Amino acid sequence: MGTDNVIKITNQEFQQLSAYIKAHYGIYLKEEKKCILTGRLQQVLANQGFNNFTDYYNHLLADKSGKAVVTLVDQVTTNHTFFMREADHFYFFRDSVLPYLSQNVKNKDLRIWSAACSSGEEPYTLAMFVDEFLGKDKPLWDSKILATDISSKVLKIAKSGVYDSQRISPLPSLWKMNYFQKIDNSNHVITNKIKNEVIFRKFNLMEPVFPFKKQFHVIFCRNVMIYFDAETRNALVNKMFDSLENGGYLFVGHSESISKEIRGCKYIKPAVYRKE
Ligand SMILES: C[S@@+](CC[C@H](N)C(=O)[O-])C[C@H]1O[C@@H](n2cnc3c(N)ncnc32)[C@H](O)[C@@H]1O
Repeated sequence: MGTDNVIKITNQEFQQLSAYIKAHYGIYLKEEKKCILTGRLQQVLANQGFNNFTDYYNHLLADKSGKAVVTLVDQVTTNHTFFMREADHFYFFRDSVLPYLSQNVKNKDLRIWSAACSSGEEPYTLAMFVDEFLGKDKPLWDSKILATDISSKVLKIAKSGVYDSQRISPLPSLWKMNYFQKIDNSNHVITNKIKNEVIFRKFNLMEPVFPFKKQFHVIFCRNVMIYFDAETRNALVNKMFDSLENGGYLFVGHSESISKEIRGCKYIKPAVYRKE
């Protein structure tokens, strides 16, 4: 697209659209994000034949099919992730959290939630750690991991379980051998043994009430709260603590932290908290 064809956004249009995004998805777009937002949506507007953001916004509100919001969400979310991201979390999970839970969880019903799972690297990494830790006792456990995200685009990749060699390179060689099958020269698919351990669902963290019947022992909610403002973050953290078992762990991203005012939350180590 040449610069002549660029569809510009007015201040009012930006405010309208960013208020909509914040109200529905929590994502807070400061004025500085104007260029990024317009850049990401150029193709969407062009494909749908809009030549201004007001018409696009009205279409968004009027569209009953749900397609317009799916496309918007796929464009406005930042889905960057990788296997073993913030690796010390996984080592703490393996060395402290799993040994504690394996002794203390009732009925061998271990409940883990990856709350902004993007294309699946985080929940699959957790599933591989759980598999390795439980070893031959694994069949005695129900240790399925719930993995949710708001973006349909990344959930599709996650469900496929297909990653190229570059993406799986941070994983130990043994895991690459045991938990992946080569499907062509560059791609690998995660084995059913691990794939079946992760349940992917679309879920918006802005839901006012979380619908889970049982509380979780572990929640990973990493690198999503950076897109929210303080009030939205605090409200989300409170809901997550309500969804955690006593003694359960919440992992957030290393650049995120939790307000001291959150009730029942004990700081354990950087970006790891526990419900007390
Ligand atoms: C940067 S990725 C983080 C992935 C992974 N947790 C990690 O740390 O590598 C952030 C994810 O949060 C998701 N997200 C953003 N807003 C959300 C919301 N309101 N509800 C659920 N997921 C959301 C995005 O779609 C994106 O995939």
